Amino acid sequence: MSKPFFITTAIDYTNAAPHVGHAYEKILADVLARYHRLAGDRTYFLTGVDQHGQKVQQAATAAGISPEEFVAQTTEKFTALWKRLDISFDGWAATTDPLHKTCVQGILQALHDKGDIYRAKYRGFYSVRQEQFLTDKERGEDGAFGPEWGEVVELEEENWYFRLGQYRDWLIGFLDSHPAAVIPSFRLAELRNAAAKISNDLSISRPKSRLSWGIELPFDRDCVTYVWFDALVNYISFAGYGDPAKADEFAALWPALHVIGKDIIIPAHGIYWLIMLHAMGFPDEQIPPLLVHGYVMMDGEKMSKSLGNIRDPNTFVDTFGAGALRYYLMRDCAVGQDMDFTDDRLVQRYNGDLANSLGNLLNRSLSMAKRYRQGVLRRCESPLAEFVTEKTAAYRRQMDAHQIHAAIETTQEIVVRCNAYVEETAPWKLAKDPAQADKLDEVLYTLAEALRIVSLLITPVLPSAADAIRAQLVWAGPLDFNEVAWGRLADGHQLGEPVPVFPRIERE
Ligand code: MSP
Repeated sequence: MSKPFFITTAIDYTNAAPHVGHAYEKILADVLARYHRLAGDRTYFLTGVDQHGQKVQQAATAAGISPEEFVAQTTEKFTALWKRLDISFDGWAATTDPLHKTCVQGILQALHDKGDIYRAKYRGFYSVRQEQFLTDKERGEDGAFGPEWGEVVELEEENWYFRLGQYRDWLIGFLDSHPAAVIPSFRLAELRNAAAKISNDLSISRPKSRLSWGIELPFDRDCVTYVWFDALVNYISFAGYGDPAKADEFAALWPALHVIGKDIIIPAHGIYWLIMLHAMGFPDEQIPPLLVHGYVMMDGEKMSKSLGNIRDPNTFVDTFGAGALRYYLMRDCAVGQDMDFTDDRLVQRYNGDLANSLGNLLNRSLSMAKRYRQGVLRRCESPLAEFVTEKTAAYRRQMDAHQIHAAIETTQEIVVRCNAYVEETAPWKLAKDPAQADKLDEVLYTLAEALRIVSLLITPVLPSAADAIRAQLVWAGPLDFNEVAWGRLADGHQLGEPVPVFPRIERE
């Protein structure tokens, strides 16, 4: 039986259109999903949109339309972009979906019945932008709340609270005994420190007088639930949790690998979500691991709408194609680290690695095979077989460890080695000497076979280009990682016509 691979991304706020930072995360998860499909795993990739909450309500008011209409418009921008970027999700989590609402309300009721949710009065300072009450911990050195909190107002409210504090020791014990709970591991240490400081319970309700755009509490119709308590549940509601008809499906999939940015591990995912799952009765071995990525930066700052430095991914798709953006983001950013985004670097990466290196290898290999052998291969032993096999194994280890940039580098090493091999063997000289006919066949077979394997290795990052390469090689074998074994091209295989797959980007 193949093993399940359930991967999720954060669901994006629909208070604005997506930018390159959002796209980075979806592409990262898409590459892992496509790799696991290739590896034969039963893959389920869930992504979606976070449609409730104050930010969305405020944006709708500013636009002069209802929140329903507003989220319909913004959600369309996300789905259209993911389509253009070849994001191959299997499940779409939109939090206004009635299925999700039923699940969230079921969980709230169960936690309420269990005594984990209680009512209390609270007076304090509230950040409108962050939708949370602030404590002294949030004050800066000068005693004031910093600009990151936006407008801060004093409020008194009666609210419902989730007993977060009661589970502090469980969380600490869990993190101490599960070193793989957070990737990369330095983020586990940060989370451990934050968990040790949990002192308050979590307010999980908002009075409808202040916020109406949310899911009603099943035990108090005057309140909606706090947006995080709603949004986090998407990971299970859209996988069948709480639906008896889907119990087996859910059990077979869960736990997911949660791909999230470093801004939402503390407290949302690392504290609230893990404790919510534990309180719901999920055993420790079913607590999902968190794969935490860094930021796409612009001139040293996080790309974000509030900083006003966002780039629309659509412009890159229009100008260079989806592949160029996918490749650049995956190649230049080590998962977990930040990356600096520049148009120049995108073009350099594309021209250097794809146009000049891989594209050139494909073109010259097919052209030589056509010129010297009418595109017909003779199956031969190859001096590069062992090298390519080793690299393929390394690629697999790297992808299994979510090290996409390293796996791309490994693939690139095969391409570089093959281009050097062309220079070393000089097929144009071999072709002039009939005594070297066998050697020429060996070179042509080696290049075609290496390209066939490379086309599989680049499939997760560059699915369309990989298809185009396979079409030119006339290779219709299954999209399956077993096919990376050396020597699948048969004796007498007829190659196709060379057509540039990565035309060079020329800029003024
Ligand atoms: N709606 C919440 C997540 C709820 S998950 C149950 C949210 N939305 S968001 O739109 O602000 O961010 C969505 C994801 O995009 C987050 O994982 C966030 O880290 C990521 N990114 C947003 N800007 C980013 C960059 N500039 N760079 C990389 N990822 C960033 O948080």
